[in-house]
Amino acid sequence: MTMPSEGASPDQPTATPAPAAECPGELRGTAALITGGGSGLGLACARALLAEGAHVTLMGRRTAVLRQARHELQAADRHGAGVTTHSGDVTNESHLASAVRAAASPRGRLDIVVCAAGSGAGGGPIAAIDLDEWNRCLGTNLTGAMLTMKHAIPLMGEGGSIVALSSIAGVLTHRYMTAYAVGKAGLEMLVRNVADEVGDAGIRVNAVRPGLVPTALSEPLHSNPGIVDDYLEQMPLGRLGTPEEVAETVLFLAGPRSSWTTGQVFAVDGGHTLRRGPDLRRRTR
Ligand SMILES: NC(=O)c1ccc[n+]([C@@H]2O[C@H](COP(=O)([O-])OP(=O)(O)OC[C@H]3O[C@@H](n4cnc5c(N)ncnc54)[C@H](OP(=O)(O)O)[C@@H]3O)[C@@H](O)[C@H]2O)c1
Repeated sequence: MTMPSEGASPDQPTATPAPAAECPGELRGTAALITGGGSGLGLACARALLAEGAHVTLMGRRTAVLRQARHELQAADRHGAGVTTHSGDVTNESHLASAVRAAASPRGRLDIVVCAAGSGAGGGPIAAIDLDEWNRCLGTNLTGAMLTMKHAIPLMGEGGSIVALSSIAGVLTHRYMTAYAVGKAGLEMLVRNVADEVGDAGIRVNAVRPGLVPTALSEPLHSNPGIVDDYLEQMPLGRLGTPEEVAETVLFLAGPRSSWTTGQVFAVDGGHTLRRGPDLRRRTR
């Protein structure tokens, strides 16, 4: 399959979608775009959506990461729902426009969008914030999600669902992670505003707010025993999460079981938001 590129890297081929009747999943016949779908929580979301029969399109910047994810998913694609990859940067509007069209093309429309692309910030005290780092962090976590919604919504039909990955940092202070926290807080308001706007078109917009889950993004946190202990002290359930636990809630919000739910943010955090944000003075980098 050849997709428009407009500066994005060429798309990877997709498996031919199976006829809907052959696929028993509740998302059979749907098409999903997952930004940041090549790794971590986004990849777990892709696994969950694919297992329910959605054709999944993964977007990210690194082609090798996308290729590896595609191979893994295709091996697990029992129903032939199909996997497409499309490399590009969510902060580049033409890359996103191209990725959205690629994601919609197998089915003729886009049904599900998961905004998982995100990045941490360099961190540090407010007086030391680097403006380029601030702009990079907000560009990925907030502006990228806005651009994704801007280009996806016109291709979505009645019953479409958008799920954005926020963070407990969007609601609990994370000292020395101000750019990330502000970006996620902004993302949650983006979700509420867009949900209000597109509800009469039958499109739902929600967010999941994960606590600490070991991934590449959270490596500076979960590799530091002092910081992990501080996180665990704030979690009634007393353990870190898994990508699959986050993906279960994304799957619920993406599909028909949440058909009367929009504009909401669901914490999947072991109860962390009942308490306080982490003490990141012990952060080493
Ligand atoms: N892990 C946690 O503890 C945690 C907690 C709360 C919220 N979250 C959120 O969960 C989401 C997924 O993060 P993760 O933990 O799964 O980390 P991850 O494995 O590092 O995933 C982040 C993904 O985003 C992609 N990405 C980053 N910048 C991008 C850009 N400019 N354009 C396109 N893709 C981009 C990355 O791919 P490329 O680098 O190849 O582009 C990568 O696949 C993020 O939004 C994060 O803020 C994570």
